[in-house]
Amino acid sequence: MKVLIVGSGGREHAIATAVAKSPKAEKIYCAPGNAGIAELAECVAIGAMEFDKLVNFAKKESIDLTIIGMDDPLVGGVVDAFEAEGLRVFGPRKNAAILEGSKAFSKDLMKKYQIPTAGYENFDSAEEALAYLETASFPIVLKADGLALGKGVLICNTKEEAKAGVKSIMLDKQFGTAGNRMVIEEFMTGREVSVLSFCDGKTIKTMTSAQDHKRALDGDQGLNTGGMGTFSPSPFYTKEVEEFCEKHVYQKTVDAMAAEGRPFVGIIFFGLMLTEKGPRVLEYNARFGDPEAQVVLPRMKNDIIEVMEACIDGKLDSIDLQFEDNAAVCVVLASEGYPVKYEKGLEIRGLENFKDKEGYYVFHAGTTFQEGKIVTNGGRVLGVTAKGKDLKEARANAYQAAQWVDFDNKYCRSDIGKAIDEA
Ligand code: AMP
Ligand code: GLY
Repeated sequence: MKVLIVGSGGREHAIATAVAKSPKAEKIYCAPGNAGIAELAECVAIGAMEFDKLVNFAKKESIDLTIIGMDDPLVGGVVDAFEAEGLRVFGPRKNAAILEGSKAFSKDLMKKYQIPTAGYENFDSAEEALAYLETASFPIVLKADGLALGKGVLICNTKEEAKAGVKSIMLDKQFGTAGNRMVIEEFMTGREVSVLSFCDGKTIKTMTSAQDHKRALDGDQGLNTGGMGTFSPSPFYTKEVEEFCEKHVYQKTVDAMAAEGRPFVGIIFFGLMLTEKGPRVLEYNARFGDPEAQVVLPRMKNDIIEVMEACIDGKLDSIDLQFEDNAAVCVVLASEGYPVKYEKGLEIRGLENFKDKEGYYVFHAGTTFQEGKIVTNGGRVLGVTAKGKDLKEARANAYQAAQWVDFDNKYCRSDIGKAIDEA
């Protein structure tokens, strides 16, 4: 089979690595890809939002399966564009990707189908939102409705902060058109867990759990980022939590989308918060998490192409999804200054140290070629993943492997997976 992967980050590198393991994959392309993906796939210079070019490429090269890694093209309808030309593609259509594309939609869906989440109100105007804040209790959470690179959520401790937040989202359009609507919701506390799942429109099969570290600095300080590291499984995702979510969250979400005439085929990522009152859905994403994919996929035993094809064909019930009985930790190596301002074009040394090291991976997030060398090309540069028999061993292995590579201004958190000590 010829497979095309759309995207250019660490998640897509992890997907490409899983696809490359499949005996079905004869040739892999990636648009646009990066310097790491280029070892497994032929990278083509087409952007993830260039739907016509992607579709034409897939037709010209007779691609058998296209996998969309990123949220923007999914929410923009890339799957519909492929399907309109009779091409096989893995991911939700536009009318289902709205589960991630509009927070107001997802909150209304959860309310209508009684899926546990934080209490909330949706707002179309700043005036109404500001009036609502007059009688609200604090802290409170403001969310821009649309996609905002994971940065559209503001946690506000006081009325003044919240008012300023509403103004910056809805009037100053800090997150662009994503702020045409907004959600204001109840602040919750608890541990967060990410659960990714495969869906075929009717059936859902969840993968092993993971936890991300969204803040830039140790001790969950600093700004929110795309994710500074992950571990899998989460020791806080107990049998009890899983059973609760199986009953109240997972199948209910898939059934709700089907009932709304928006059957979901692809990956649903459940962002959960384990509150004192029980698990609550924080958010849905319509794709693999980044860097969750970098710890979940290396532990998956199944052939990823088989699972994705079963989703497309509505036959997911025939798949026995299995994960290794071990653990994995991913430490993101970023450029100092991320997520605000950082240098690019710095040479990366030591990548060859990962060659033939079973259980170790260096997933490229922001890299490119420059004069025959591999250089940094983004804030998150690499994701170093290591497996271990348990989380502690995986963490020690990942931090050791993080030393094998180097570039100027290299920065990583030193406490990825520290929470497991409290489990
Ligand atoms: P989201 O993009 O909705 O996952 O929000 C990003 C992050 O903001 C989450 O991972 C949480 O850490 C935090 N967050 C979102 N909603 C809430 C909430 N209702 N209460 C507390 N924290 C929240
Ligand atoms: N790691 C969180 C996300 O992919 O949205």
